[in-house]
Amino acid sequence: MSEEKQQVSRRQFLNYTLTGVGGFMAAGLLISPIRMAIDPVLKPSSAGEYANVGLAVEDITTEPQRVDWKIDQVDGWYESKVNRSAWVFKNENDEIMALSPTCTHLGCVVSWEGSEDHPNEFFCPCHDGRYYKDGTNIAGTPPTRPLDLYDHKVENGMLYLGKAQVRGEA
Ligand code: FES
Repeated sequence: MSEEKQQVSRRQFLNYTLTGVGGFMAAGLLISPIRMAIDPVLKPSSAGEYANVGLAVEDITTEPQRVDWKIDQVDGWYESKVNRSAWVFKNENDEIMALSPTCTHLGCVVSWEGSEDHPNEFFCPCHDGRYYKDGTNIAGTPPTRPLDLYDHKVENGMLYLGKAQVRGEA
């Protein structure tokens, strides 16, 4: 009788042990994919963040100058450094303008006075796209809307740039 009781007890012990170990292993297998699935959602978005582009406001003139910087980009689980560029200058109202150099036609890179034939304009060499100094596309050239304009702010005398905003069609 007592031996039978001990056998049942041993069986129960094995059942509990195997169930426990199996449950522990199943939890371990499930936690990793669940964490991977929700981790990017829990991370704060980098959208809208401003970056110090290394340009002092006192060095910004009415002549567009190109600034380049890198941002940390999180794309799902993939984190990388991404290059950003802008043409920065002060307009006639002494306001800071930071234009994206990406042509709004097909995405080539525009340059300030990139063509000797078109001074005082932004020029895209891919299909002769042209923009006025304020980034407005010139009618009759391929681009159909102005260059994007970066959000900006000034802190401790340094220029910070945020997201490039699409502007309306000219
Ligand atoms: S990509 Fe700039 S004009 Fe076509």
